[in-house]
Amino acid sequence: MASEVIQYEDVKFHAEMSVIAFDQGFGRYDRFRGGPDRYRDFVGSGGSESITLKEAETVLRELEDLRTKHLGKKSGWAVVKKMIGRIPSEEERASAGQLVLAHEIGMKDKLADAERTLKLIIDYLRVERERVDVTLPGRRPRRGHLHPITLLRQRIEDIFVSMGYAVEDGPEVETDFYNFTALNIPELHPARSPQDTFYTTGGLSLRSQTSTVQIHAMRRRRPPLRVIAPGRVFRRDTPDATHNPMFFQLEGLLVERGVTMGHLKGTLSEFVRRLFGAGTRTRFRPSYFPFTEPSMEADYSCFKCGGAGCRLCKGSGWIELGGSGMVHPNVLRAVKIDPEEFSGFAFGLGIDRMCGLMYELDDIRLLFENDVRFLEQF
Ligand code: DAH
Repeated sequence: MASEVIQYEDVKFHAEMSVIAFDQGFGRYDRFRGGPDRYRDFVGSGGSESITLKEAETVLRELEDLRTKHLGKKSGWAVVKKMIGRIPSEEERASAGQLVLAHEIGMKDKLADAERTLKLIIDYLRVERERVDVTLPGRRPRRGHLHPITLLRQRIEDIFVSMGYAVEDGPEVETDFYNFTALNIPELHPARSPQDTFYTTGGLSLRSQTSTVQIHAMRRRRPPLRVIAPGRVFRRDTPDATHNPMFFQLEGLLVERGVTMGHLKGTLSEFVRRLFGAGTRTRFRPSYFPFTEPSMEADYSCFKCGGAGCRLCKGSGWIELGGSGMVHPNVLRAVKIDPEEFSGFAFGLGIDRMCGLMYELDDIRLLFENDVRFLEQF
């Protein structure tokens, strides 16, 4: 084969066969030819043909494959070019060379034309993909709001602050002294039992009532003082519709000279009138708490039925507000306040319970489940 003599006609024949094969392969890409503006027909709103970015990228790769196949080093075209050198006549060699070159330029032009269009299409579509439509309406952030317990707590705080009370805070983890001893709760009182109170392994406890803040406040401020202390408390209760092992209380404490039960009753009566309306009545029942003497439970007339009796107040017309009483002399003594000089009253109420009644929740646990569908309603 290497020594075989080749004529111009052979080269011409093989070259033309190769061009036909190329044209066959190129046929389906012919539509991309047509000059630099041709890409507009494939993209944008006025385009008569349309193509996606992925499709255009695929076609560009196919064109590259086509070039390798028909014009690459191992192609039939490479063989044709080698044949030229074996034509004995110099004149024929020159014509064959011209012929082959003309065909090659023709094929390469077709490829370049289609490739240019495709590159313009791809550039256009890539920019399009990255484009930000600044006229698009923004996504409105979902605005949160305060939790129903916080809302109620703030209303209560406002009322007491307007009566001269300061808002106090205390730790949620307490020593025995603050949680029990200073509050005159004796050594063997059931409240101290680990069945009622959460204990840490180090012997501290989670406060089971905000009454602990009474002790902190009296130590910090010394009398005369008026404080309220809202906050979380913890008890080993099994959760149900009306119980949660963590809940919110609000403690109140006033220690001044010459304080009487009359002041206590007046204060709580005024408080419920401001919270539930001027017509709200109160009643006080004798009770017992270790840290007050005498002690009372305070009730207020039902805000829903006005005292006539309804489902909310279980037909009684009254709703329980909380515990209260005159600060026990032992509690004052525990923080070195002279009970002969000062007297005081204290009260404690459950914020969640009140919240549950006000919003007529049939399950108090809803307040702590963080279900947005529930919380959104307040
Ligand atoms: N600490 C009591 C409780 O959790 C409520 C209470 C009763 C608080 C009487 C007081 C009070 O300040 O004087 O049930």
